[in-house]
Amino acid sequence: MLEKNNTITEARELMKKAVVTYNNKPVGTVAAIIAGDEALNYDQVFARDFFVSAAAFILDGEYEIVKNFLSVTADMQSLNKSMDCFHAGQGLMPASFKIESKDGQDTLESDFGEKAIGRVTPVDSSLWWLYLLRIYTKASGDREFAGEEKIIDAVKEILAHYATGYFELIPALLVPDGAFMIDRRMGMYGHPLDIQVLLYTALRSAREILEYNRKKNDEYVKEVNHRIEHLVYHLNKYYWLDRKKLNDIYRYKTEEFGLEVSNQYNIYSGSIPGWVDSFIPDAGGYYIGNLGPGRMDFRFLSIGNLLGIISGLTDKKKASELARLIDHNRGAIIGKMPVKVCYPALEGKQWEIITGYDLKNSAWSYHNGGNWPFVIWFLAAATAIEGTPILTSQDLEMFSKRLSNDNWPEYYDGKEGRIIGKEARELQLWTIAGYIIAYHILKEPERISIFAFEPEDGELTCPLNRV
Ligand code: GLC
Repeated sequence: MLEKNNTITEARELMKKAVVTYNNKPVGTVAAIIAGDEALNYDQVFARDFFVSAAAFILDGEYEIVKNFLSVTADMQSLNKSMDCFHAGQGLMPASFKIESKDGQDTLESDFGEKAIGRVTPVDSSLWWLYLLRIYTKASGDREFAGEEKIIDAVKEILAHYATGYFELIPALLVPDGAFMIDRRMGMYGHPLDIQVLLYTALRSAREILEYNRKKNDEYVKEVNHRIEHLVYHLNKYYWLDRKKLNDIYRYKTEEFGLEVSNQYNIYSGSIPGWVDSFIPDAGGYYIGNLGPGRMDFRFLSIGNLLGIISGLTDKKKASELARLIDHNRGAIIGKMPVKVCYPALEGKQWEIITGYDLKNSAWSYHNGGNWPFVIWFLAAATAIEGTPILTSQDLEMFSKRLSNDNWPEYYDGKEGRIIGKEARELQLWTIAGYIIAYHILKEPERISIFAFEPEDGELTCPLNRV
């Protein structure tokens, strides 16, 4: 069925049109093909958006643009090392960059959030970079590039910045609001799932790259292993919610002091929202959206959850429970045009307080319950790994026809995702690239191996208690 459509040809042509060059070399794709004032910063190369384009290029056998991107962003990282608080912290990579050309001379202009709407920090850029480095290396076999001093230094800079201790005694990363794909106030500050799972994926990627030269990098590999073990335990023990856990939380005692307590985060059962009970089917489960002192955010974040399956954070049992939950809530999570990045929407007073009256994020729009077609590749990848057909070729055929007719919008609005997003850009690159990846994966599921990691099967035990 997928063979007979022209949509893939159209998508590939648009990808070519979107390529940005630096000193005559391709280094990325714009976020959307758009000109004039409306472009805002959509004419820039966003790291998180380009990750999706890069993976599509790789599956199409085009490696050069990806290698160049990895290389120029590594340069931008090392150029911006600084100890003061007016420059991006060491190890960070820009949210986006553009090329300025003057008198035949190209320069790279990065944005670490200092120009972005809301001055948001790109905590995710360096993590997507590590994951992309792994995918590029695995697909191309170009271990030489991954072993270059500049690249290994960039990997170590990221680890130094992300894998060290901060204020808290937990393995999850403390992040500010708007620090990733959801780059506006949405109550994501703290320990949002998407960043924690991406951190885990990035650490596994870094470990693989460093292990190519184990002798030289032994110390780093040990540190990375340590953090991975703790993160696996933390996310699977405290974020995972199934019927048994829901029941435990419902009957939690509070105000417990000491090491051996059951309600470590002092969660009050009154904070369980009404929708959660019917959201979790028998033998189903998911990772909650955020966790902190006195706070469990029960919202379903699709990227973190699906990446959990792809990165191997879930064992086989949890992966199938998660697939079951998605299937059970298909209309809500996938709807008519996939996929909600955050479910359910914040409404009324909650929307006022948490978003700060953000009209772009009004209920069932944009990040707040809006549907993002680029997430289609995560659905295809989870399907290939887990086996439950969360996305079939027929689904993809239907979605891609609609996307092409609607000129590849950035997002859709409405509870079922039936209306083109109020402020959605057209010709949005990660929408186009997400489709290309899904197309490849559904056609040749074995190609998932460049994205996937072995699942964390085995008994879940606290690393602190291991002898
Ligand atoms: C919006 C999205 C962000 C994306 C950017 C470029 O700001 O929220 O995730 O990277 O657009 O497409």
